[in-house]
Amino acid sequence: MYHNPVLLKESIDGLDIKENGVYVDVTFGGGGHSKEILKRLGADGKLFAFDQDEDAQANTLGDPRFTLIVENFRYIAQFLKFYGIRKVDGILADFGVSSHQFDQAERGFSTRFDADLDMRMSKRNTLSAYEVVNKYTYDDLRKVLFDYGDIRNANAMAKVLIASREVEEIRTTDALKQALKQFLPEHRQHKILAQIYQAIRIEVNQEIEVIKEFLKQVPDLLNPKGRLSVISYHSLEDRLVKRYIRAGQFEGEPEKDFYGNIEVPLKKVGGLIVPSREEIKLNNRARSAKLRIAERNDEK
Ligand SMILES: C[S@@+](CC[C@H](N)C(=O)[O-])C[C@H]1O[C@@H](n2cnc3c(N)ncnc32)[C@H](O)[C@@H]1O
Repeated sequence: MYHNPVLLKESIDGLDIKENGVYVDVTFGGGGHSKEILKRLGADGKLFAFDQDEDAQANTLGDPRFTLIVENFRYIAQFLKFYGIRKVDGILADFGVSSHQFDQAERGFSTRFDADLDMRMSKRNTLSAYEVVNKYTYDDLRKVLFDYGDIRNANAMAKVLIASREVEEIRTTDALKQALKQFLPEHRQHKILAQIYQAIRIEVNQEIEVIKEFLKQVPDLLNPKGRLSVISYHSLEDRLVKRYIRAGQFEGEPEKDFYGNIEVPLKKVGGLIVPSREEIKLNNRARSAKLRIAERNDEK
């Protein structure tokens, strides 16, 4: 199976679908969420989906109401405009990597397999894990490991990587594990490796910058009462979503107008939603999922 959709009902309920509305699924993957949106749309409704991974194209849906755009969602407004769409009624995002991407050994996303250092979600991406590991400066490597992997001894790890690649280039995930073996005690190996892989993957795909660029376009794209439904899988993603919904920005305090009222482009709908114990039992990938829903704020 390409991907088992997470928080399917809750995330699509959050879009409050109007029969003839226009919707966007920015992370199409195996199409689980898209299919559910189509089920709830009428004959005149429309769904546009994005996925930067060329593999997702194989899952495209033969439905006249559906269009798949094989591009990065950081360009959402630009590509929708190309299709003549300036406003939509709801946007769904289900961030991160699909099970398919994890399971394809040669993509290099999974700690389970040996593979070339790649981790690109799109083959058109020029930066790969190989460049990050072999070409980044000490400072940049340290920052990636610390900021994106929450690795406490990032300094020491970066130093060891630099020393190791001076002896021989690090070309594969096994070579990476070998170079870092002093940091991987048996009992914590799995967790630390997952943190290292996450850090490199976020850097390779510029995930933080991309999510910021995307979120900043959302308010202008939404019609009045338009909805945003976002599923995140780690705290870096969720923090960006939470802050943007609360304050309309990623750092600092929200702007106040002349009268001291806070002007925010979105307002939250309900609280944080997490998967039920049953869902996590059936789908382990759901365990870290967090869903937030917001609506365009027209009470400014
Ligand atoms: C968690 S999966 C989505 C699964 C999907 N909701 C389903 O039900 O099958 C995330 C997908 O988003 C894609 N993706 C991640 N970041 C992207 C970006 N910046 N632009 C376009 N697609 C992206 C990945 O390639 C992956 O296929």
